[in-house]
Amino acid sequence: MLGDIQFHNPTHLYFGKDALDALKTELPKYGPNIMLSYGGGSIKKNGVYDKVVAILKECGKNIIEDPGVMPNPTIHKVYDGCDLAKDNNVDLILAVGGGSVCDYAKAVSISAYCEDDFWQKYFIDGEPLDVGLKTIPVACVLTMPGTGSEMNIGSVITNPDTKLKYGYYTQIYPDFSILNPEFTYSLPKYQMVAGIFDIMSHIMESYFSGEDDNTTDYIAEGLMSSLVNSSRVAIKNPTDYEARSNIMWTATWALNYLLSCGKEGDWEVHMIGQAIGGVTNATHGMTLSAVQIPYFKIIMPYGLDKFVRFAKNVWHVDSKGKNDEEIAKEGLTKLEAWMKDIGVVMSVKELGLTEELFPDVIKGCFYNSTGYKQLTEEDVIDILTESLNY
Ligand code: NZQ
Ligand code: ZN
Repeated sequence: MLGDIQFHNPTHLYFGKDALDALKTELPKYGPNIMLSYGGGSIKKNGVYDKVVAILKECGKNIIEDPGVMPNPTIHKVYDGCDLAKDNNVDLILAVGGGSVCDYAKAVSISAYCEDDFWQKYFIDGEPLDVGLKTIPVACVLTMPGTGSEMNIGSVITNPDTKLKYGYYTQIYPDFSILNPEFTYSLPKYQMVAGIFDIMSHIMESYFSGEDDNTTDYIAEGLMSSLVNSSRVAIKNPTDYEARSNIMWTATWALNYLLSCGKEGDWEVHMIGQAIGGVTNATHGMTLSAVQIPYFKIIMPYGLDKFVRFAKNVWHVDSKGKNDEEIAKEGLTKLEAWMKDIGVVMSVKELGLTEELFPDVIKGCFYNSTGYKQLTEEDVIDILTESLNY
């Protein structure tokens, strides 16, 4: 394994059917004012809201209600959240929901007391937090596995006025995250599948870079194998606890930086997906799945050895009598078949993208240099066109 490594992840994870009980031991560590941030109402329907509120009350906390965090949270919601947090002298932001709620909580954490415009300073200019800036602790009760936001510092925010969706490393890890796989049973199939593909993508983004013999790649292959297996079970039986717990656990380890150890990572599919998201407001995981296969077809010749390894170790392609290109292609065919089996979106058309909108996607896209091939704008147009006609 080449390269120097630093790894530090301070988030305390509580995982399992009784994980929510941990709130009772964690909450007394914070002041009285808890901002309860959540999405469009799924937690009220599935009973998670009532359970969380009961514990907050039992612990004697003041609840500052903060509903309505939308999927792909907007700058406008963050501005409102900052006012709410400051006006109520919030001691902890408790994000109850998926990656959007957790990302939003981190954005509010670093922006509420920031004197500059948070969007310009952090997300456009990529400036670091001011020294000594007051931030608000964040914790998470996760209801949708996918993003890894429960154990990372990422926050992805959308500016609907300019149609740009950008990410920022906030330096804020959730202090603790509560993961009960049963809370994910109520996810609509579309969201469950989008989350599953997001997890797969996070692992592949790390895996498809570098040429050294790297322990991290072996871990990645194990995580991908588990995910493929459990996804097939969960699609047939959404309340299979074993499968849903494997998916949830894999999601966290796919993007808590374990897989960045000794790896530069590719992340180009995420750059294209994010740009599509900014233009269409589509579900994150589906913006990735719609471009994954055309992207891999373009980069495969430049990283053939890794594609051969992927085919053999993850998809169990029998290599007998085949050359490397044939083996690699068969691996891609199996990936594609799995994607269709679980029902991800394969065409950007389904996300509302049209050829007229391609220039907007290009405008919002970044071109990384750490994968097997640095893309050009023409490559991205080719990828979008192939996806549009899928
Ligand atoms: O809003 P509610 O009513 O809660 O419904 C949500 C939402 O409509 C619903 N949902 C969540 N849990 C549910 C549920 N419905 C029923 N039962 C449940 N248990 O699912 C919908 C999607 O939720 P959302 O939080 O938007 O999904 P996800 O977790 O995929 O988060 C997506 C956001 O995270 C960003 C994405 O770009 C996107 O903005 N990402 C964050 C990353 C990070 N922090 O590192 C990395 C990722 O690559 C990603 O970019
Ligand atoms: Zn993602």
